[in-house]
Amino acid sequence: MSGIFSISSTIKCDVLIIGAGGAGLRCAAEILEKRPGTDIVAVTKVANPQKSHTQTAQGGMAAVDPKDPVDKPVYHMFDTWKGSDCSADQNVIKKIVESGWEQTVWMENHGMHLSRDENGRVSKRTFGGHTLGFGETSAFRCVFEADRTGKGIMDNVWGEALKGGTSFINQAIATELLFTGDRCTGAVIFREKEGEFVVVLAKATVLATGGDGQIFKVTTNCRQNTGDGLAIILQSGLPVMDPEAVQFHPTGIVGPGILASETLRSVGGILRNKGLEPFMERYAPKMKELAPRDLVARAIETEVREGRGILNPDHNIEHVWIDLRHLSDYIHEVQIPEVSSFFKKFINLDPKKDLCPVRPSNHYQMGGIPTNEFGEIQKNSESLISGLFAVGECASASFHGFNRLGTNSLLELVTMGKVTGEKVVNCLDAEQPGRPKNAGEKTFSLFSGFMKQRGRDNLGQIREEMRILMTEKVGVFRTEEGISQALETLKELKERADKAALSSNSLIMNQDLIQRWELNNLLVVSMVTAQGALNRRESRGGHFREDFPERKDQFNHHTLAYMTEFGDVKLGERPIDMSIYEEKGEHYEKFGMIERKY
Ligand code: FUM
Repeated sequence: MSGIFSISSTIKCDVLIIGAGGAGLRCAAEILEKRPGTDIVAVTKVANPQKSHTQTAQGGMAAVDPKDPVDKPVYHMFDTWKGSDCSADQNVIKKIVESGWEQTVWMENHGMHLSRDENGRVSKRTFGGHTLGFGETSAFRCVFEADRTGKGIMDNVWGEALKGGTSFINQAIATELLFTGDRCTGAVIFREKEGEFVVVLAKATVLATGGDGQIFKVTTNCRQNTGDGLAIILQSGLPVMDPEAVQFHPTGIVGPGILASETLRSVGGILRNKGLEPFMERYAPKMKELAPRDLVARAIETEVREGRGILNPDHNIEHVWIDLRHLSDYIHEVQIPEVSSFFKKFINLDPKKDLCPVRPSNHYQMGGIPTNEFGEIQKNSESLISGLFAVGECASASFHGFNRLGTNSLLELVTMGKVTGEKVVNCLDAEQPGRPKNAGEKTFSLFSGFMKQRGRDNLGQIREEMRILMTEKVGVFRTEEGISQALETLKELKERADKAALSSNSLIMNQDLIQRWELNNLLVVSMVTAQGALNRRESRGGHFREDFPERKDQFNHHTLAYMTEFGDVKLGERPIDMSIYEEKGEHYEKFGMIERKY
């Protein structure tokens, strides 16, 4: 067996970007703008960067227009802080919110087609939790490209990266980070088509691998979102932050689980239960459908639990309705064409005439690889790893705390991509690193372990059981008992996975091998998610403990979770930055540990 495991070549470059979605390529674009000619290698798991998860983003990107007569950055900062359930970092909030419009202009100047109104001004829509005057009324601060904003961003940054000469390695995964002392010097990359391991040595390495939504059965996430970046960080002995902070989008389309954008509620869609009651009034009297996602998702689940859901006979899934029938043809055809068509395409309903079935679907990980406000990865709450960065959903700086507002992710992705790119430029004058002697050891031990098994268990079945377990026990509502059961079962699933044989031991285009590797990552990420959820004996944002339904001051900190041996999770803490509050400037009192009502 050992013969097939060797490093076939070494590639030297300035910057290695692992993940070629919106954040990774915005970072590449910034590096190339600041230092044209930089040698960047971008690795993507999918066949083409346009298949990245960013391109599925629908609703838009929050950004305060400095010419807006009523909106102000401080309102957006407040909404983000309140939305986060007082657990985002205020230095990060300030930095990202203040550069929102600059990023919007950058996007347009580089070819994005933002939707415009009849006067030719950039159109804006409202989204849940975005307000004017510290919660007075809804704010219209989200810019968009119809309801396919992510696609517009991807076209743009991919074009910029290509134009600047970025080399892409498609259909490849990063299996091991390389270090020389405390400095990251690149990674081992496995090229699926060739069945080859290559070492990529770089002066800076950027992780941009996206989220981990595939740990849940029902998710809006693409198939490739298996938490790979988090798993490789844990494998390297580094921590992940706030893994328990998981977002469930209120409106997944029942059946496929895919996203029915919050735009639907923004343009006037109404959530109704079995009796057609517009029930959100009972949960968020002021903001109703436009309350933040964690509240709306819990409201829908409560309706279902209390018998006011509708049973879909095909899937046997209970759900509520989103009612779009009263919206004008203009709204259907111009503002929500894509998502309107999803109902037709996937479940053969016409939203102009039919009620549409929705239920919460896992959507986003607020936590991730801990970074500072420049995207530099932290070893612990005080120190950094040089040469190693993270951006996008796999990273947590933390702009979202425990609940992200809709449209804040695209803003974060482009802003942190840019800021991180600027920081990466500082690494470019460093010496080209050499290849560490042990490069590939961890990968070969992992892969040969996969290949020597002879057990008859089914890997797909194990993955499915894990996803159902996580949805049922570590989902919208959580309890000590349920999470503890999940932890025990995850250990059993890992043991089963470790004995299961692959259907083929070829290295070339072996999808079973890739799925085995992904299953490892999914189990690892599920384990730290469940452990974080068990430890946090309070409720905060998307983390809701039925046995501890209130937020508690003793948990006013981020979770750091380390795990080098499966199941042996070590927990630490990182303080929440409260610099806006502590600086005692204008409106500082809005940034304390405020009550969260909508
Ligand atoms: O609902 C949506 O369109 C999703 C937006 C977001 O997650 O920011």
